[in-house]
Amino acid sequence: MRLFAFARRAIFGAALLPAASLIYWASTGDLTANPIDFITDTTGTTALVLLMLTLTVTPLRRVTGQNQLIKLRRMLGLLAFFYACLHLSTWVVLDWFFDFESMIADVIDRPFITLGMTTFLLLLSLAVTSTAGMIRRLGRRWQQVHRLVYLAAMTAVIHFWWVVKADFREPRLWALALSVLFGFRLWWAYQLRRT
Ligand code: HEM
Repeated sequence: MRLFAFARRAIFGAALLPAASLIYWASTGDLTANPIDFITDTTGTTALVLLMLTLTVTPLRRVTGQNQLIKLRRMLGLLAFFYACLHLSTWVVLDWFFDFESMIADVIDRPFITLGMTTFLLLLSLAVTSTAGMIRRLGRRWQQVHRLVYLAAMTAVIHFWWVVKADFREPRLWALALSVLFGFRLWWAYQLRRT
C-alpha cells in the first residue's frame, strides 16, 4: 500500500517534469530558435502520452489483478487535461494573442485544428464529470460518458497524424498502440459475454 502511494506520487512528479522543464528553459532563454513550436510540441506530445497511459490502466489492472491501479486512471486523465490546457493556451495566447475571430476561422479552415479542438472539448467533458459528486449524480451513465476517452484518444492521434508532414513513424506508432488498446477492450467485452 505504501509502495503504491509512493509510486503514485513519483508518477505525478514525473508527469509534471515537462511543464517544469518548459518553465526552467523559459527562464534561461533555452526554448530553442522557435519557442512557440517547441512549447506547442512539448505540451501536445505530453498530453497525448498521458492520455494513452490513462487508457492502459484498465487493461493493466485486469491483467495483473491489482485493483488499486484504478486510482491512477483519474490522476493520469486529469494530468492529460492539464497539458491539453497548456497546449490550447499556447495557441490562444502565443499563436493568436486572443484574436478570437481569427481563432474561429482557424478552427473552421484547418481540419487538424478542428480535431484538436474536438479532442479538447471531449477531455473537458471528461474532466468536469470526474468528480465524486458527478460520478454519484450520473450513476450508470457515468461509465458510458467516460467511454468518450477512446474517442478523445482517436481524435488526438488523427490530430497528430494531420500535423505531421513527412515522417509518419511516430503517429503510426500511436495509432498502433491505440488499436492494441481497443483490441484488448473488445476482446474483454467478448469474454464477459461468453461467461
Ligand atoms: C485545444 C485545441 C488544440 C489546438 C488548437 C491544437 C493545435 C496544435 C498546433 C498548432 C500544433 C502544431 C502544428 C505544427 O507544428 O505545425 C499541434 C500539435 C500537436 N498537438 Fe495539438 N492542438 C489542440 C489539441 C490537442 C490535444 C487535446 C492533444 C492531445 C491530447 C494534442 C496533441 C498534439 C500533438 C501530439 C501535436 C504534435 C506535436 C509534435 O509535433 O511533436 N493537441 N496542435
